[in-house]
Amino acid sequence: MTRLTLTLLSSLGLGSLTLAAPFSPSAEGCTREALKAHTETLLSAQTSGNPAALIALQTADTTTPFIYTEDFKSKTLSSSILTTAQKIDHNRSLLDTTQCATYTEIISATDPNTPRVIGTQMRFDSTASKLLKIETLVTQPGDWLFNASATLRYARQEETIWVPIPESERDSRAVIQAAGDAYLDLFNNKSVVVPWGTPCQRLEGGAYTGRGLPTDSCNVGVPSGVPITNRRYVIDEVLGSVDAFVQFASVPDSHEFRVEKGKLRLVHTLTVMRK
Ligand SMILES: *[C@@H]1O[C@H](CO)[C@@H](O)[C@H](O)[C@H]1NC(C)=O
Ligand SMILES: *[C@@H]1O[C@H](CO)[C@@H](O)[C@H](O)[C@H]1NC(C)=O
Ligand SMILES: *[C@@H]1O[C@H](CO)[C@@H](O)[C@H](O)[C@H]1NC(C)=O
Repeated sequence: MTRLTLTLLSSLGLGSLTLAAPFSPSAEGCTREALKAHTETLLSAQTSGNPAALIALQTADTTTPFIYTEDFKSKTLSSSILTTAQKIDHNRSLLDTTQCATYTEIISATDPNTPRVIGTQMRFDSTASKLLKIETLVTQPGDWLFNASATLRYARQEETIWVPIPESERDSRAVIQAAGDAYLDLFNNKSVVVPWGTPCQRLEGGAYTGRGLPTDSCNVGVPSGVPITNRRYVIDEVLGSVDAFVQFASVPDSHEFRVEKGKLRLVHTLTVMRK
């Protein structure tokens, strides 16, 4: 760099630190802003029924090609649920900058054709510039406890709860995941100690435990003898949340948890069981 350039930069108030950080994605890594923008791309694809913008983001790497699954079955984006325009009434996303991944819950209760509740995990390269994988669970009439208008009603009630946690009160990724794992382990091991919080509410399909009272408990029983395996997590420390896509015995399922001070506060499930 010439002396003239340096003089010019310093007269503009631009020091070497500014100079050292050009606008390349690799210098910025995986940011919440980039992940949030990708979830907005997903939402507009679903709203319009056009996945083109996501197809454009797919990795071009031929040794580890892009993967798309729907209800745990391999498909392509151009034959996916994203080609069906869906009216979105409510959405909420977890942003995981460590794994460069997202989870988005989409509630469509007032769609003129088919109400649906959709959960989507997206995974990116370390700079959030290329899409490596999308997994989607699509629930609709016929699925376990499905009732999109009830889901919408409770999700709206929870909007004031599912907010960012003040920095000084945030749990680590390990603590958040451990709380979710303990709950999932309980289905196959009654000795597991689950960090129940009070209040706590479970939204399973359209069914709600509790009445929105300070005394509500999530410790109201789970089936036993159900191994919950192949867990793929998305963890957001800011929202104190973890979502896990799992094999619930034999069926595709998502369990999402809001954790506060290490304890379970909210549980959301999506279970694909229609024939
Ligand atoms: C998703 O939710 C946010 C509020 O959390 C809202 O501002 C946005 O408009 C929603 N997007 C869609 C496509 O409905
Ligand atoms: C779905 O939930 C709504 C609101 O809670 C309720 O009014 C309706 O009866 C439910 N529908 C079915 C089919 O259970
Ligand atoms: C069940 O959970 C308890 C408590 O965490 C643990 O000690 C035990 O090893 C678990 N049993 C099995 C079979 O995993």
